[in-house]
Amino acid sequence: MNRTTPPSGKRPDLVQSLDGVRQHVASARKNGRRIGFVPTMGALHGGHLSLIDAARKASDLVVVSIYVNPTQFEQFDDFEHYPRSLQDDLERLAGRADVVFAPDDAAIYPDRFSTYIEPPKISQRWEGEHREGHFRGVATIVLKLLLGVLPDAAFFGEKDYQQLLVVRDMVRDLNVPVDIVGCPLIREEDGLALSSRNQRLSPDERGRALSLYRSLIAARDRIGAGERDSERVVSAMTEVLERGPVDQIDYVAIVDPETLEPVDLISSPVQGLVAAYVGPVRLIDNMRFDPGISGRGPAHDATASR
Ligand code: PAF
Repeated sequence: MNRTTPPSGKRPDLVQSLDGVRQHVASARKNGRRIGFVPTMGALHGGHLSLIDAARKASDLVVVSIYVNPTQFEQFDDFEHYPRSLQDDLERLAGRADVVFAPDDAAIYPDRFSTYIEPPKISQRWEGEHREGHFRGVATIVLKLLLGVLPDAAFFGEKDYQQLLVVRDMVRDLNVPVDIVGCPLIREEDGLALSSRNQRLSPDERGRALSLYRSLIAARDRIGAGERDSERVVSAMTEVLERGPVDQIDYVAIVDPETLEPVDLISSPVQGLVAAYVGPVRLIDNMRFDPGISGRGPAHDATASR
């Protein structure tokens, strides 16, 4: 499909109100244009840019939201230290996005706000167990943003694999008329999954953070070599993390990619999940393993150059 790109270097229009973003979307839709939406919390990196490029390929108007959503942080310290860089983000989006929606807290959570989304069942394990209230905040803000922007399609990264499934199930359960598109996780050249939180790692922590990726590679190699017992795969992954060393492991798991339920015997594609602290920074990573394809990289995994 032939889609329009903003003139190269043109900064996106910055709007801060719901009315403002709705006007852009309504006039584009009147002209028969397809709307692609990428929700973000800013501090944009190559992972976000890949989502925006995917939105660009499939849409005529690309809207990016930048909002650090307080209700999805279970620890105030994490919220406070979350990187914020609106001006740099706008520059990074020049020639890529058409509209940036950057609301303030009052636009999203006005006085007497009290309605939250009960997230779907798939939210309960893993991140749900370790970050109480996190997915309630995510589901609430994502639904508010989808209803605010009213896009045809919204793009989410597989880096936050469980989040993608939570959003997919919520949209299906509540009949929200939007296509949810999952896009591949992007890595640094050495394998570290791109994340806004990486900015907070010291050089020593950055080195140790690589053990998350290495634990997934260890799992891929074991499964590629014929291991089918997920407990043994998880032990191999845990050893790699402990050697890292990471400072705290939240979980290491081999799960069904659709339900996120743990798998005992690996007889079809599975998803490896890992979450750990390196210094004060909590990192997550994941990878798809297909026991039918030995010794090959996972299909759903891309590596970015720096
Ligand atoms: O993935 C994120 O950056 C956030 O969870 C999202 C989807 C923008 C909601 O705040």
